[in-house]
Amino acid sequence: MGFGAQSPVRVEWVVAVSVAAGAAAVGYLAYKKLYRKDRCCSGMVNLHIQKDNPKVVHAFDMEDLGDKAVYCRCWKSKKFPLCDGSHTKHNDETGDNVGPLIIKKKDA
Ligand code: FES
Repeated sequence: MGFGAQSPVRVEWVVAVSVAAGAAAVGYLAYKKLYRKDRCCSGMVNLHIQKDNPKVVHAFDMEDLGDKAVYCRCWKSKKFPLCDGSHTKHNDETGDNVGPLIIKKKDA
């Protein structure tokens, strides 16, 4: 018995490779769908804040800001929309360079 075109051994190899490729494709798609969605590269900026809202919006009256207000732009702050310094850890871990928006009076 050889490895010719009609050989049972060759047919078994073709079936085995096909089954393995199919299983790998299904596994990859399942991994991508179920596991990687919450990981870093889903394209979402906001991973945790008010996820039940269709849009996160905050509004403040200028008169209530005081002399200085510091707002988060990295979406990592536990006090969002205010900055709590979490951008420093984010920048260290990712190599990013985000920082807060600071609004202050000219002489403050
Ligand atoms: S914590 Fe987000 S910019 Fe500071």
